[in-house]
Amino acid sequence: MVPKPSHHLDNTADNCHYPYSCRSVQSTVAGRSSNYSAVNKSELTAMVRRAVERMRSSLGSGHNIAFALLSAQETGNYTLRPDEASILSPHASQTKKERFARGRTAAHLALQQLGIEKSPPILRGQEGEPLWPIGVAGSITHCGLWTIVVVAKGPKHFSLGVDLESYCKINHIDISGLVCCDKELDWVTAGNDFRKRLASIFSAKEAAYKALYPVCNRYIDFKEVELSPLSPEKGFRGQFCTSISDQLTPGYSFQIQCRWLKDLIFSYVVHAAE
Ligand SMILES: CC(C)(COP(=O)(O)OP(=O)(O)OC[C@H]1O[C@@H](n2cnc3c(N)ncnc32)[C@H](O)[C@@H]1OP(=O)(O)O)[C@@H](O)C(=O)NCCC(=O)NCCS
Repeated sequence: MVPKPSHHLDNTADNCHYPYSCRSVQSTVAGRSSNYSAVNKSELTAMVRRAVERMRSSLGSGHNIAFALLSAQETGNYTLRPDEASILSPHASQTKKERFARGRTAAHLALQQLGIEKSPPILRGQEGEPLWPIGVAGSITHCGLWTIVVVAKGPKHFSLGVDLESYCKINHIDISGLVCCDKELDWVTAGNDFRKRLASIFSAKEAAYKALYPVCNRYIDFKEVELSPLSPEKGFRGQFCTSISDQLTPGYSFQIQCRWLKDLIFSYVVHAAE
């Protein structure tokens, strides 16, 4: 297994090993979750639905795709199954427990929409990745109040990555040096919307990581992939700078789609196996 670089953003346990700057980002998020995002559930749902329709068309016919979106403000029965509950550290904070339970609840709701009524517990792999039922690909993201899960199944072998970020997260902390390659830094600093551009690079790379981790089973550093903007507010073309696996070699490229809603950015990647 490839050793984790020191700045691995490990959120797989309660004792996160974020680098100083990223840990600050995360605590900023935790501290501000009620402060940002004037988005309401119906508009966020509409935006995610459009993105999911786009994913459906890139998967092609014969594939079924579904999503679930839950808010921390809703009251619901977010009970973890015993095997899922045992994933969390007994010392996990209440906020972390609730967020994790919301994610697993959303996962089961989304799987039901795929026709999987009695979904098995969604366990966690060694790098924090959710372990989906055989034949299903999916991805989970939490941001502030929101949790979104997208799942899909079909004849092709593919993986999915989704990520929701708010640029209010990076209001006070500049993580550009950690996240961006030189060309990306040029782009991020070129306009008058530094935070928005940085949030979009950050979100796009996290969505890419979630989609590509199942392909290579190894940590991918932020600077091992370089993004070029496709067109304003549409997303990026990602290109590998280093060799990650047999398939993910230098020059290997893929697309990341991004959608903005007020302060939120939703990034997604559908990766079909070759
Ligand atoms: C894993 C990571 C992407 C999660 O992103 P985040 O913004 O911190 O948190 P999100 O809420 O959006 O996503 C959390 C979910 O990611 C999923 N996840 C975690 N590790 C994963 C992995 N290796 N592969 C796929 N999904 C993963 C989990 O489902 C988790 O939710 P859960 O704990 O409720 O199951 C991030 O913490 C990280 O480690 N990033 C560094 C690697 C990276 O992004 N490299 C870029 C290369 S292009």
